[in-house]
Amino acid sequence: MNNELANEIRSKVDIVDIVGERIPLVARGKNFFGVCPFHDDSNPSLCVSREKQIYTCFSCHATGNVYTFLMNYEHIDFKEALRYLGEKVGVDVSSVKISNKNTKFTPFYEAYLFSLKYFQNNLQAKVGADARSYLMSRKIDDEVIKEFEIGLSLDKRDDLTKLLVSKKYDLSTLNKIGLSSDDHDVYNDRIMFPLYDLSGKVVGFSGRIYRDKGQNKYVNTKESPIFKKGQLLYHYHIAREECRKNKAVIVMEGFMDVIRASTIGVRNTVALMGTALTHEQLQLIKRLSTNVIMCLDGDDPGVHATLSIGDMFLEEGLEVKVLVLPNPDDPDSYILREGKDKFLNLLDSAVNFNDFKLRKLKEKVDFRSEEETALYINQVLKETAKVNDPIRVELALKKLAKEFDLSYNTLEMRFRELDKPKTREKKEMIVPKKNKKKTKYEKAMEQILYFMLNHDWVISQFEKENIIYPNEESRLLASEVVYYYTKYGNINIPDFYTYVQDKEEVVNFLNEILASNYQEDTTMDELLEYFGVIREYSRTQEIKRLTKNLSLEVDPVEQAKIAEKIRKLRIGDNKNGWRN
Ligand code: UTP
Ligand code: MN
Repeated sequence: MNNELANEIRSKVDIVDIVGERIPLVARGKNFFGVCPFHDDSNPSLCVSREKQIYTCFSCHATGNVYTFLMNYEHIDFKEALRYLGEKVGVDVSSVKISNKNTKFTPFYEAYLFSLKYFQNNLQAKVGADARSYLMSRKIDDEVIKEFEIGLSLDKRDDLTKLLVSKKYDLSTLNKIGLSSDDHDVYNDRIMFPLYDLSGKVVGFSGRIYRDKGQNKYVNTKESPIFKKGQLLYHYHIAREECRKNKAVIVMEGFMDVIRASTIGVRNTVALMGTALTHEQLQLIKRLSTNVIMCLDGDDPGVHATLSIGDMFLEEGLEVKVLVLPNPDDPDSYILREGKDKFLNLLDSAVNFNDFKLRKLKEKVDFRSEEETALYINQVLKETAKVNDPIRVELALKKLAKEFDLSYNTLEMRFRELDKPKTREKKEMIVPKKNKKKTKYEKAMEQILYFMLNHDWVISQFEKENIIYPNEESRLLASEVVYYYTKYGNINIPDFYTYVQDKEEVVNFLNEILASNYQEDTTMDELLEYFGVIREYSRTQEIKRLTKNLSLEVDPVEQAKIAEKIRKLRIGDNKNGWRN
């Protein structure tokens, strides 16, 4: 429907730029390589082709055009990707309406939106006076309240539940999505902070006490079909663009920290909402930026979390720095007390994670003990082995040798020992995913299809052949290719992608072919050889079919006819005999 517009926009952008804005790419030959964001990896297995305007991961087989990339990377749908790119290249995209397509989750989102408005109203109403003054005392002004959609739940046990029930929701749904519990309101008399999913929809709340009642400080929405705490990060939908601009992502513990940082214009932030980092969150952070600045609380748990989470970031191949806050500050309290400039100074002087780690390691060592000193040196060497830059390694070793009056050679020898397993691992090549075994006919068919996608003349040639397809997927793809070519007069892979994107089977098969290293260019002679392989297949298939018919046929005249056909096919004197 939007195909022509999509193709126009696509022709104006370069996939290398769009991917490159999000992932560091290195040019190698005709292509660009980077670490694939679609699977857990630190090898540069993602290949982006400027010429073909597609990307392919040799490891996880993610493939597609600039739209697919944006959709998967940014968690947006096709129309959103279209709008984003259109605006970027100055093509009028006002006709593209982002429709909220209804899913089974739509009523859940609506219930949350309704609750959000309800909580916001409460805070502004008379009953909200105490909560408002609490917020003011914490220097959360009206502007911030509005921006972060802060609200208030009431001390009434089932106010919200009743409202939602009166609006067609049944109690079991409300219990399921965490707005009610045992048919009563989940939140009573708490300041309500909405929690958003990756696209910015409200999917949960965190309710904070504001009168000293000695209850849990925060009550969070329980896991629900739309709220999976471990799969999201507070502020992600805002941070996306901000991190790109700032080329870094700042990771904090609490959403209060993120909110405070926002008041001083620092918005490339996300909050973990606690100190545990899930694997999914790690992948999300990696997508925001490969430069991570950790800004957790300055207390002991914060330092502890910095050390363990920092290691996880390092293992993902990210650049990690630490913004060190004085104990026991968190970003919120620090900014409030010391102000914007001092915080920005700290941000500028964020230390390398490895240095931070060594510093922390050192704090605990009693250097009067030889045993502890040796242990420490070994630990330093182990950490140094994680550094990929040989110059930095040498500098670190020299520094260590000097500091402890050891010979450089001793240290280096020990270092090599520790460094070995990692180097082996690094050199390991990316092994493409094992495919199910394909017959030579299937392979020939796929090769032909790949030629078709790259050369119009192959399609013309293909149409002259009478193909019996080795499988359903190749039949489907071939018919789409021919259809597209007939309709638009030419074909190219990225636009064809846009055209087939809703057809899952076709896309999957297309991806498989694109990720399979097929040859791109061909000659007529070679092409005919490939067709020969298919013909050979078609012939054996046809013989099989006729043989079966023969065994079922009772009329001797018909039997003779079939037998003759089979004979001819067997001899192969009539190449196209099976056509008759
Ligand atoms: P913190 O205790 O650091 O909260 O917890 P905070 O950001 O400083 O909040 P204020 O300043 O006291 O208002 C960090 C994060 O851990 C989660 C919350 O998501 C919070 O943002 N948390 C904390 C809970 O879920 N429950 C709790 O009881 C405490
Ligand atoms: Mn705090």
